[in-house]
Amino acid sequence: MEGYLDLYRRAENDPDAFWAEVAEREIHWFEKWSQVLDWKPPTARWFVGARTNVAYNCLDRHIATHRKNKVAILFEGEPGDQRFLTYQELHRLVVRFASVLKSRGYKAGDRAIVYMPMIPELPIAMLACARLGIIHSVVFGGFSAEALKARIQDLGATLVITADGGYRRGKEVKLKPAVDEALTECPSVRDVIVYKRTGSETIMQSGRDLWWHDLDQHATEDCPAVELDSEHPLYVLYTSGTTGKPKGILHTTGGYLTYITATMKWVFDLREEDTYWCSADIGWVTGHSYIVYGPLSAGATTVMYEGALDFPAFDRWWRVIEKYRINIFYTSPTAIRALIRQGDHWPDSHDLSSLRLLGSVGEPINPAAWEWYHRVIGKERCPIIDTWWQTETGGIMISPMPGAVAAKPGSGTLPMPGVIPDIVDLNGYEVGTDREGYLIIRRPWPSMARTIWGDPERFKEQYWTRVPGAYFTGDAARRDADGYFWILGRVDDVMNVSGHRLSTMEVESALVKHPAVAEAAVVGKPHEITGQAVCCFVTLKKGDWDHEKLGQDLRNWVAHEIGAFARPNEIRFTDALPKTRSGKIMRRLLREIVTNNTVAGDVTTLEDMSVVTKLASQHDED
Ligand code: PRX
Repeated sequence: MEGYLDLYRRAENDPDAFWAEVAEREIHWFEKWSQVLDWKPPTARWFVGARTNVAYNCLDRHIATHRKNKVAILFEGEPGDQRFLTYQELHRLVVRFASVLKSRGYKAGDRAIVYMPMIPELPIAMLACARLGIIHSVVFGGFSAEALKARIQDLGATLVITADGGYRRGKEVKLKPAVDEALTECPSVRDVIVYKRTGSETIMQSGRDLWWHDLDQHATEDCPAVELDSEHPLYVLYTSGTTGKPKGILHTTGGYLTYITATMKWVFDLREEDTYWCSADIGWVTGHSYIVYGPLSAGATTVMYEGALDFPAFDRWWRVIEKYRINIFYTSPTAIRALIRQGDHWPDSHDLSSLRLLGSVGEPINPAAWEWYHRVIGKERCPIIDTWWQTETGGIMISPMPGAVAAKPGSGTLPMPGVIPDIVDLNGYEVGTDREGYLIIRRPWPSMARTIWGDPERFKEQYWTRVPGAYFTGDAARRDADGYFWILGRVDDVMNVSGHRLSTMEVESALVKHPAVAEAAVVGKPHEITGQAVCCFVTLKKGDWDHEKLGQDLRNWVAHEIGAFARPNEIRFTDALPKTRSGKIMRRLLREIVTNNTVAGDVTTLEDMSVVTKLASQHDED
């Protein structure tokens, strides 16, 4: 604790000196900065004038050391195939692929969409882009063609990197057909590079589609990392906000790399001989920062598993941990809850004694899940680190440092050095101990989002206007007498389904595109496993509708428009939606209805009270 406090105080008292020291120690720079931070809210520039390269830091600098033949990526495919890519071999594959991209004319500042299964070629594609300064945007393989199209268009991407498909629950999940569908309306795209993972029949459009293995025939192993400006964009990752349109969160080079490398070591207590596994999908920020860039920059062995946690049976994860003697395991509360339900005999039949540290991310971890994780998986030996952060923060912000900060189940505990969180009321005033309020971050930190791609106004408005100069997280929180933070969930119309962020407006926009739907209101409903489930209130256009069939249709419709993970749990048909006099849908009431099946609180602004009474008395009609 003394050590943590000392680090924290140093960062608080002289942030520039602190971050300069961390950056010097953790990162290779081709050229040093002239200024640590240039902060004109909401615009931050970290390590001004410095030059570096993320791929160089993740690969080249390690192969000159004892890590040359250390496993960088340890891959297990769902069918059981394995690959052990050493730093040397990963470097070779990344350089070859980068040389292919370069020879096809791609260069720093161009944009590439990466839409792949969880196979090593996904980080290889990301690192090859980073090597050349091509801005990548990874689109989670679970997103539909429609969602993919919107991202390609918003980014103005000229290149798509994909695969024929991947494996999930014993079946092939095809990806290329979704790309084909998306590209009917994406004229900016010149090339589609397709990696052959499954070998199933794939239609290739001549003049546009290229096989990865064909291109590799002409690859070279001479493609040096480009010396990029510290603020050069590294990636754009789309995430849900409060409108129907996802926002492209932009992360840049030097500050991002510095912060995630440092937190990788602080939070995971990383040792040279560790085997580290984060079970997230690389399509989300957790995978970017703590499967790919953080672990590789820190020189760790990072495990990637391609498929579902229940294939072929519910002990797949425990099998993987036993097989590779995994030491550090990082997963989500939603996965833990799903596994609890299957019973202790699955983990109990495996030797999990290699585990030393357990992590959690994505949503508050409920006491029952924490207790099970601690007892059944960690055998009461392993500290649990509950890490709070967001796509926008780039890296872990609030988390115990194992060994230093004592845990309290359900609390992220204390902030990382250099992170100054606070809890304020609507007017921006600090609330006292044990009071609920909005979580804000008072000072800039190196891995903070720099903007929303193509929409700097929205960036400013969403994050930086509530409390001038401070970052507004969108989460509610409370701080206890020990200074520990307790995250209470979102204060906006963003749902958290299985640790995935989804906006109510996004689902509503999808629903109203359906020819039968007049109006829709969507709220998150508490759910035992997924944390929240998508619950939709729908009014229909005139017609003779078969509610049961239409309910199914609408569920599939949303899955088609956004992706299978967004498929609504419930569709409730209603004659009218509760609205204020100004016509705003009162989602608060709908939330109460789905949570308690009653309505309490202030309803004086409601237009038609009978609507609420009716909705409240109605159970799931679907
Ligand atoms: O509400 C918080 C919740 O997830 C949101 C961020 O979602 P996303 O950008 O998709 O990133 C998830 C992975 C970093 C936050 O605003 N959240 C994330 N981690 C925690 C959490 N809530 C409570 N405890 C956590 N450890």
